[in-house]
Amino acid sequence: MNKLCFLVLISSLSTTSALAGHFDGHVDVKVGPLSPRALSGQKVFNQKCGSCHGQNGGGTLNGPPLIHDIYNPGHHNDSSFSRAVTQGVQQHHWPYGNMPTQPDIGFSDMIGIVSFVRELQKQNGIVKREHRM
Ligand code: HEC
Repeated sequence: MNKLCFLVLISSLSTTSALAGHFDGHVDVKVGPLSPRALSGQKVFNQKCGSCHGQNGGGTLNGPPLIHDIYNPGHHNDSSFSRAVTQGVQQHHWPYGNMPTQPDIGFSDMIGIVSFVRELQKQNGIVKREHRM
């Protein structure tokens, strides 16, 4: 890579992170009664995902809310959650930047997290809508 190319890369990276720090897609999430599986998912989620996706998935300045219509099960099915965790996510829906892989989430944590997010989505009026492209 030549020097000019490197400079352009660095300046576009810093513009992206400056924007990322200011976007706020936060939503207020209602939390009703949860199943035991979702309760265990809630604990892991708030610990490992909450710094970006917010406590109970309401979003922060670092990452989007998952209790959001974009993530209804017809648009992002359950396997998109395990894909996000094992492979990370390239920025595409939001201006927050990429999601890094989450290597300490095991299979049972994953099942709990998905139950937790789906139960909260339902409680917050997010229903399955088929995705048409
Ligand atoms: C360092 C911040 C960060 C952490 C920690 C994080 N995420 Fe993300 N995640 C993001 C960002 C940013 C996006 C949105 C990317 C976009 O669409 O622009 C995202 C997107 C997602 C998506 C949508 C995937 C898709 O196909 O569009 C899922 C599901 C997800 N995250 C789950 C999780 C789970 C579960 C955890 C915890 C185990 C977690 N994330 C931890 C930043 C983070």
